[in-house]
Amino acid sequence: MKIRYPKEVDIIFKELSKSGYSRYVVGGCVRDFLLGKEPFDWDICTDAKPEEIQRVFKDFNTIPTGLKHGTITVVVNNKNIEITTFRTDKDYVDNRRPREVEFTSSIYEDLKRRDFTINALAYNEFDGLVDCFNGQKDLNQKIIRAVGNPIERFSEDSLRIIRGVRFSAQLGFDIEENTALAMTNCRELLNNLSKERIREEFLKILMTDKPSDGIRRLILLKLMDYIIPELIECIGFEQKNPNHNKDVFEHIMEVLDNTDKDIVLRLSALLHDIGKPRCFTVDESGKGHFYGHHKISTEIAEEILTRFKFDNKTIHAVKLLVNEHMSRYEHLREKSIKKFINKVGINNLDKLFKLQIADIKGSTPPHDFANIEYLKNECIRIINEKEPMTVKDLDINGYDIMNLGLAQGKEIGDILNYLLEIVLENPKLNEKGLLIGQARQKLQQKDIE
Ligand code: CTP
Repeated sequence: MKIRYPKEVDIIFKELSKSGYSRYVVGGCVRDFLLGKEPFDWDICTDAKPEEIQRVFKDFNTIPTGLKHGTITVVVNNKNIEITTFRTDKDYVDNRRPREVEFTSSIYEDLKRRDFTINALAYNEFDGLVDCFNGQKDLNQKIIRAVGNPIERFSEDSLRIIRGVRFSAQLGFDIEENTALAMTNCRELLNNLSKERIREEFLKILMTDKPSDGIRRLILLKLMDYIIPELIECIGFEQKNPNHNKDVFEHIMEVLDNTDKDIVLRLSALLHDIGKPRCFTVDESGKGHFYGHHKISTEIAEEILTRFKFDNKTIHAVKLLVNEHMSRYEHLREKSIKKFINKVGINNLDKLFKLQIADIKGSTPPHDFANIEYLKNECIRIINEKEPMTVKDLDINGYDIMNLGLAQGKEIGDILNYLLEIVLENPKLNEKGLLIGQARQKLQQKDIE
């Protein structure tokens, strides 16, 4: 087997060799290469100590990324390549940061402290594949297995528990029995992790080809209680409604698998019905209802996304899609469609329709998408006509209203909204002179009242 490195790696290898140091490509890039995938980034490890790496690359731009932990980034051809000294991590703080890093000259010791056998692989052209823990065999047999004692590996960095589920979901691998058992037994350690680190791994699970597999695995291993416990309430929650042939959780999983790989869409699918168990009622005929579940789901979604410190833009978009996922109007008037477009926002419309279609696909057949298709085509038509739709599109602004003698304040917004209503009904009236006339009339009317 021969791994062809990109030329930046070649340059780094030559420099390190010239100074007498050993060097390997290591970890994810070797794993990906063996899987026939294009490696995302190439990590290099060496017996050169951090100061020695800096000395070797004194004529290059270097960044002391993690000097204490032995990582130096070298910039070659505008590409950042990380070089890390072989190390044995000792004595972890909070199950995530090594208190002390001991450098070693042994590639074996370096591979021994890595998370999974499929990641504990190194390669160079002299030694070929360095595979001290049967990583290649596990790759071939599609197994995620911790290096050595799984409890030790997870106690060193408990994020590895979720990483393991993530790799299994991304690669379609099974998790070896002892490794899986240790994941469950060490689950309390997840409490020590920052929400941001959990979020990034969880998102990778959500962005796999079939996200429900990863979610089911998190539940099976009792890890979901530490990530989104609200989802557990949905498992086995019967809907008692002819429109639904699955319980709430199974429905959510089907909707999730039916959405595109887009973070906002996948999060919205996961959370769109999460509030259902909290608003369940049964009528006299025994039929189940979830009145207002979109509102409760929106509240829970906000709580969860805020907990995981998502950015405001994502939180806003997901809340909007969850809140609107039940808006499936029939034969709206043009003015109402414009208001709908305004409320959802042009940029979110496509995602909302996709969520709604996935939602229907996850319910009892036959699946009727006619209303959604109709509304979607109407929205496209109206948007293409470029008719005024928001206050910003009016041929008049707040200053024009103030010139009519109104002081700055809420009333200006009220008048602008009043004018928008008129223009939504009849776009031809969007002309400054006419709108000023309408505003004057409205103000006079108010005075009389
Ligand atoms: N690693 C580890 N424990 C961690 C994180 C990383 O042992 N908690 C080791 C693994 O050997 C891993 C390598 O560091 O292969 C690089 O880690 P990272 O870049 O996070 O992951 P990759 O394996 O490259 O995979 P991906 O790029 O998909 O995250």
